[in-house]
Amino acid sequence: MAKWIVAIDGPAAAGKGTLARRMAAHLDLPYLDTGLLYRAVGRRVLNAGDSPADKAAAERAAQTLRPEDMERTDLRVPEVDAAASTVADVSGVRAALLDFQRRFGTELGAVLDGRDIGTVIFPNADLKLFVTASPGERARRRWLELKGRGLNADLAEVERDIRARDARDIARAASPLIAAPDAIEIDTTHLDADSAFARALQAAATRFNLANSDQVN
Ligand code: CDP
Repeated sequence: MAKWIVAIDGPAAAGKGTLARRMAAHLDLPYLDTGLLYRAVGRRVLNAGDSPADKAAAERAAQTLRPEDMERTDLRVPEVDAAASTVADVSGVRAALLDFQRRFGTELGAVLDGRDIGTVIFPNADLKLFVTASPGERARRRWLELKGRGLNADLAEVERDIRARDARDIARAASPLIAAPDAIEIDTTHLDADSAFARALQAAATRFNLANSDQVN
């Protein structure tokens, strides 16, 4: 397989991770969940007793990030959702994480998901997907996911948090969330995971001239 770069961007809980993981397996490419980098920075700031709004503390945490920080099992909890979203607004944090993301994709190609992959990290990506869904549907999915992991969550609160993170992602000056002009949009509001994957495969097949594009596995 070629060293393709596949950029998958979109708002919180739109199903990017599931889609990106399946695309990576199908195309035999490494996968990087870039949200985990921001989550790991947020976690480090919280654990150091600092405020995620403290820009200097956030920058320090990003500059000294270690691989094991991404292996933690407490990165996908609401407290870290908010901290990651806040530190992601700091341009020094984004700058500190940029090289790692570029290097990850350079040797073997990669599927990366995040907010600014197709616009800032890999503006020349071979394939760009922008995955969205309505805020209500995204909240419902995240709520189900939290419940499935045994975490107690209130649906209205989950939707409020998602809307707040969307607003911060869209409004920030440093690498705001926006679809690249050449991204293919997949709205998954009324699509299940298999149908979203089939759409993405179709886009990849067209772009990369792949055979058997309709095979979902
Ligand atoms: O899984 P979910 O969609 O809830 O979030 P995530 O992808 O794990 O990202 C966590 C936070 O990091 C988001 O709220 C974004 O603010 C930020 N982020 C970012 O700014 N840029 C990226 N490339 C990835 C995540």
